[in-house]
Amino acid sequence: MGRVLAVTGGSRGIGFGIAKRFAEDGYQVAILDINAEADYRFNLNILDEMGADWFYLQGDTRIREDREQFVSEIVARFGRIDVLVNNAGVAPKVRTDVLDMTEESFDYVVGTNLKGTMFMTQIVAKQMLRQEWTGVKRGTIVNIGSASATVSSSNRCEYCVSKAGVMMLTSVYAERLAAEGIMVHEIRPGVIDTDMTKVVHEKYTRLIAEGQFPIARWGTPEDVASVVSVVCDDRYIYTTGNYIDVDGGFHIRKL
Ligand SMILES: NC(=O)c1ccc[n+]([C@@H]2O[C@H](COP(=O)([O-])OP(=O)(O)OC[C@H]3O[C@@H](n4cnc5c(N)ncnc54)[C@H](O)[C@@H]3O)[C@@H](O)[C@H]2O)c1
Repeated sequence: MGRVLAVTGGSRGIGFGIAKRFAEDGYQVAILDINAEADYRFNLNILDEMGADWFYLQGDTRIREDREQFVSEIVARFGRIDVLVNNAGVAPKVRTDVLDMTEESFDYVVGTNLKGTMFMTQIVAKQMLRQEWTGVKRGTIVNIGSASATVSSSNRCEYCVSKAGVMMLTSVYAERLAAEGIMVHEIRPGVIDTDMTKVVHEKYTRLIAEGQFPIARWGTPEDVASVVSVVCDDRYIYTTGNYIDVDGGFHIRKL
């Protein structure tokens, strides 16, 4: 039986990289993204060219009805969900000193990155609990966190706080769902070359050149997607609630 991936924020960037990777792995793919399907059609065409079995729903992870519609459409089309990747995320629209951070920006970033992930996980976990085990587990949930879960940036506090929350919700769901055969993991990208990092491209390129990242290059969506694929493999089984840094070694403290 084919396996089914549900990925949020899959029209571009890391999320699209994950959709493509899992299509290559033989999964049926369901994408939920706030963008219209036509906006990043040039990416989605690649799935067609691969002969992938996929569908796209335009929707917002912050909105309950959209989450419910996503899950019910996946079940109607594919019958089950084997993997959920909570990837949809936003940076603050404007980087602002924490002392001037607005409540609107906090609600926008935390609402997307933390609340969206929290409640998408809840509804998909309940769906997985209605499903039979396939092989060694019932399902895998992967949260795309960030190095910012533990690295402070005082000009985008709301982002750091949202990703710190993702770290804890990974632990809570991992603990709750382990006995049910559902494993929950967190992937922490460092600096990945996507639309999100366009505004800081020059700064990060300089930091890479200055040696901040032991693997001295930008990360790619494929770098992240490959690791997500690995943790969903049946051989990755006696572990849950962990995180993996996909950051070129940025997390290593050095003297
Ligand atoms: N790029 C990096 O350096 C980096 C580093 C660490 C973590 N991350 C995380 O990786 C994830 C993907 O980021 P990216 O770099 O590919 O960014 P991106 O902006 O290119 O892609 C994010 C996608 O999420 C979608 N999205 C945003 N809000 C949504 C919502 N409410 N509902 C549904 N879809 C929504 C966007 O439309 C977009 O397609 C994010 O969670 C981000 O925080 C990125």
